[in-house]
Amino acid sequence: MAIKQILTVPNPVLKQVSRSVERVDDKTRALMDDMLETMYDAPGIGLAAIQIGVPLRIIVMDLTEAEAEPEPKYFINPEILDDVEELRLWEEGCLSVPDFYEEVERPERVKLRYLNYDGEEVTEWAKGMYSTCIQHEMDHLNGVLFIDHLSRLKRQRAIKKVQKAEREAETDE
Ligand code: NI
Repeated sequence: MAIKQILTVPNPVLKQVSRSVERVDDKTRALMDDMLETMYDAPGIGLAAIQIGVPLRIIVMDLTEAEAEPEPKYFINPEILDDVEELRLWEEGCLSVPDFYEEVERPERVKLRYLNYDGEEVTEWAKGMYSTCIQHEMDHLNGVLFIDHLSRLKRQRAIKKVQKAEREAETDE
């Protein structure tokens, strides 16, 4: 396993649409292992492959509390089959937009279909935090960031904040 570099805005790679995984094999699993290690190291609760520069429809996630036993989840080629009208407003963040948080409204429940770590098909409803997180991560697969759901002004502010922090980190080195 290896910790990969997480791309940040406004890197144009993050705007790419990822392609489907054709076969779930050991290479796919090695990528997911790296993604999970990178996510835990950050630390974060979700990561899409494109965030480490790999344009494949793969997501890793772990929504358990920091002190609890890890419960990693893996999603290959996830699709949303259904959702509900009821919306959930939640403050989101993203490892590609570090230290910026803003509320986004998304369906409170979504019905998912995806392949798991072993390449088996899973269909289930995600609700609450799980629903918010998987929708955020699935946006990444289509080149959409959570800041794209905000006003242009807020989005530009977020990007400037990230760029400024990176510039300052560089001069500190
Ligand atoms: Ni994100």
